[in-house]
Amino acid sequence: RLPSRVRIHEVGARDGLQNEKGVVPTGVKAEFVHRLAASGLTTIEATSFVHPKWVPQLADAEDLFPLLADLGDTVDLPVLVPNERGLDRALALGARHVAVFASATESFAKANLNRTVDEALAMFEPVVTRAKAERARVRGYLSMCFGDPWEGAVPEAQVVRVCRALIDMGCDELSLGDTIGVATPGQVASLLTALNTAGVPTGRIGVHFHDTYGQALSNTLTALRHGVTTVDASAGGLGGCPYAKSATGNLATEDLVWMLHGLGIDTGVDLSRLTATSGWMAEHLGRPSPSRTVRALSHQ
Ligand code: HMG
Ligand code: MG
Repeated sequence: RLPSRVRIHEVGARDGLQNEKGVVPTGVKAEFVHRLAASGLTTIEATSFVHPKWVPQLADAEDLFPLLADLGDTVDLPVLVPNERGLDRALALGARHVAVFASATESFAKANLNRTVDEALAMFEPVVTRAKAERARVRGYLSMCFGDPWEGAVPEAQVVRVCRALIDMGCDELSLGDTIGVATPGQVASLLTALNTAGVPTGRIGVHFHDTYGQALSNTLTALRHGVTTVDASAGGLGGCPYAKSATGNLATEDLVWMLHGLGIDTGVDLSRLTATSGWMAEHLGRPSPSRTVRALSHQ
């Protein structure tokens, strides 16, 4: 059985723009987020409060976040925070929703956070505790849930262990990341079943598929059939990860919306406004969107 409504967690402004070679001007980012909101998206990941040398593309978080203040009442604007320093920066600006980001593999934990898996979890613990005490919502990302560029296939038990740790820490929601886009539907079904068996509530699981091998939509449909109702996507298919070679863009929000609306599933998104936004951003970036739906609708 499929859900009647899906909540889209839009990551284009964060996951998308963090992977651009050039730095997008702060004003353009602010307009991008406003346009995404005007197209009906209600959860729009805005930026990251990470070390500016690690992700220079998002080093303007302090300047950007206040430009989104007018959206605060109607749009949920999650931001990434790797540690207490990041949480301080986010809370100081009034962020109400933060995300920590763990890894299922040691290689990516090291590359992305300069920590082992367990050191990273220890770094997140006080972040989650303090964020909850401040009544902020907390998302826990988990990267490399299916395959890892250095380690290959990732054992399910490793993924389940870190998911449990994030839930036990107090994360309100998990986002299962196929960071390099290698997963296929059988793996998605198997992992969701394993998490269910381990007592992780499906209602608290979101999925985050990159589309490297063109499997993101099939994987999403599989997740929906397993009861998942939160899906991450990025407008126009922007994205990747600077610390994971071979990661390309996320599932394009337009491709997702096309499928969901075709299935009669409500998203609240106005597809033509969203497509126009991705077309506008593609002009700024100087290259066409990789999304098939954006291309199809733009040439009509
Ligand atoms: P580190 O070098 O180990 O940092 O990096 P540290 O803890 O040793 O601190 C060193 C200095 O950095 C200190 O300054 C800190 O204050 C400062 P000093 O005392 O030397 O003057 N510092 C900070 N400054 C500003 N903001 C901060 C901050 N933290 C420390 N938050 C660190 C560790 C975690 C900071 C670093 O590795 C980092 O920033 N990593 C972020 C990487 C990242 O953003 N990756 C992309 C997001 S993850 C992703 O895309 C995957 C996802 O989409 C899901 C999927 O697809 O799988 C979510
Ligand atoms: Mg990602």
